[in-house]
Amino acid sequence: MPVHAIAKEAALNAAKDGDAEKLRTWAAQLEAGGVLYFPQTPVPIPIADLGVLLGQKQKHSSLHKNIAYKPNRDELTGVDAKSSPAEAVEQLHAIMRRYSKSVENFLGEFLAPYQRRWVLDYASYRPIEEQGRDLSTRKRNDLLHTDAFPTRPTKGWRILRFFHNIHPTRTRDWVTGDAFPKVVGNFTPGKLALPRPDGALAKAGKGLASATGLGGLVPQWKRTPYDEFMMQLHNAMKEDSEFQGVCTKEYFQFAPGSSWMVYTETVPHAVLAGQYALEQTFLVDPAAMVEPELAPVRVLEKLAGARLA
Ligand code: SIN
Ligand code: FE
Repeated sequence: MPVHAIAKEAALNAAKDGDAEKLRTWAAQLEAGGVLYFPQTPVPIPIADLGVLLGQKQKHSSLHKNIAYKPNRDELTGVDAKSSPAEAVEQLHAIMRRYSKSVENFLGEFLAPYQRRWVLDYASYRPIEEQGRDLSTRKRNDLLHTDAFPTRPTKGWRILRFFHNIHPTRTRDWVTGDAFPKVVGNFTPGKLALPRPDGALAKAGKGLASATGLGGLVPQWKRTPYDEFMMQLHNAMKEDSEFQGVCTKEYFQFAPGSSWMVYTETVPHAVLAGQYALEQTFLVDPAAMVEPELAPVRVLEKLAGARLA
């Protein structure tokens, strides 16, 4: 998977100046399965916030889960409220709210070609060491996979994730796999059936209009044949040890203080080691793409010969 390194100043200047040509090139690289890598994050975290985030592990040893921030409800989950004083929870909430907002502000300009045709999804703080985590197969993040949300179908909207390694000294170590069409070809039609349209599609179509009009509210979407397939593909990749062994792998170490972004529903990825990362997810309208035909929903529809979402 190509990694495109972008200097922080170049990113910020192009975003501020609205350099349409440069911004379209970067968006196209992203859509084609590239990782946009900022060796120095263009979305710096205030020093005081960093101190609080890095102190989480020591202060709350009962912390086992990622901390999630839901911008649409301004809600923080995953913090052990019993062992954390109310002020500490409120402080963390404010930090995550700031982080989410600042990533949205940056990408609003950096991804100007999309004109914010997205739903701002959850942000997360990942304070747990990734190496050697004891998780069930489907929850493991150290096995190559493409992302799909079991309870939040995207109905063809793309999953874009912006990360920040806030560990002061250690890299976050990733591996990425083959391009999406090749992965799909590996699993279909032998191991997985291609998605097929069903009668529920017509009804599911109604969610879209409200999604774009409600300024970040995530509507209750039905799972479409597209979502069904993407969920099956996620599971099939993680559960197939032969695939895990033979597929192409590229290793990458994201430096302390760096950021990167990637369409994780199409780029097979896994995290092997690292601790303390921030992440913000966007669900992006496939029709807003610079290269709409590369959106996975379009790729699958071409293979299936039918509308899937
Ligand atoms: C994942 O999305 O699979 C995990 C990525 C990370 O936490 O670095
Ligand atoms: Fe993932």
